[in-house]
Amino acid sequence: MNFSLFDLHNHLLPLVDDGPISMDETMEIVSLSELQGVHTIVATPHKKDVNELHSVTYVKDLLEEANQICSERGYSTRLKLGMENHLDPSLPDDISTGTALPIEGSKYILVEMPYVRKSNFIEDVLSQILEMGLVPIIAHPERMELFQYNPNLLSKLVRNGAVTQLTASSVYGKFGSTVQRFTEQILRCNLGHILASDTHMSRGERSPDLLKGYFEVSKIVGVESARDMVSTLPGAILDDKALNLKGPIDIGYRAE
Ligand SMILES: [Fe+2]
Repeated sequence: MNFSLFDLHNHLLPLVDDGPISMDETMEIVSLSELQGVHTIVATPHKKDVNELHSVTYVKDLLEEANQICSERGYSTRLKLGMENHLDPSLPDDISTGTALPIEGSKYILVEMPYVRKSNFIEDVLSQILEMGLVPIIAHPERMELFQYNPNLLSKLVRNGAVTQLTASSVYGKFGSTVQRFTEQILRCNLGHILASDTHMSRGERSPDLLKGYFEVSKIVGVESARDMVSTLPGAILDDKALNLKGPIDIGYRAE
C-alpha cells in the first residue's frame, strides 16, 4: 500500500465501554491495525458509557496515556478522540455542554441512530446539529433497521448534509446477508462515504479488519473510491476540511 489508512470508528480505549479489557489489549489492537497500514485511529467510546461510568476528562487522560504507551512501544500510530454519540433529543444540548464530542475537535461528529424501525425525532435532531455548524457522520447505516426498511431516508439525510460511515465487516458478510446486500446497494448509490472498523476487541468477532474491508469495497466500487473511504475522506475530516463527495443516487432496495 502506498497510502495510510485512517480508522474513524474504534472502541480501543480499555475498560470504558464494551471495548478491550486492558491497556495491553488496546496495544494489540494498535499493533494489528498498524500491520494493516492504519496509522491514525479515532477512539470512539459510547457517549452513554463515558458520561455515566466515567467522564470526558477521564477519557481524554486515558487517550493521552495510550498515546504515550504507543510511543514507548515504538508504534507510529496516533490516537485521536471522538465519541459514538447515540442520537436522542438531548444530543444538541449534550454537544453544547461538552458531554457529546465531535471527532478531535472538528466539525464532524459521529452519530449512532436509534435501533428502532421508525423514529419521529431523527430529522429534527440532525437538522439542529447541522444548524450548529456541525456535520453528522451516521455510524453504520447498513446495520440499522431504520434505513433497511426506509432506504430513501438515508438518501434524504445525505442530501441534507449528513455523511455516512460503513463498517468494514458489513461489506464481507459478518453481520449477515441482509446487511451485506444493503451495504453493497449503499456503496453503489454513492451513499457510503467512510469505511471504519468499529473494532471492539483484539481477537475474534469485531477485531481490526479495515484492510480486508478496503479490499472488499474495492471489488464493488473500484480502488479509487475505496481509497477515498479509508484515506482521503477520513484524512480530510481529521483536518476539518470540506469533503468532496459524489452525488447520491436513490436506493431501490428494501429489506424483505
Ligand atoms: Fe461503535
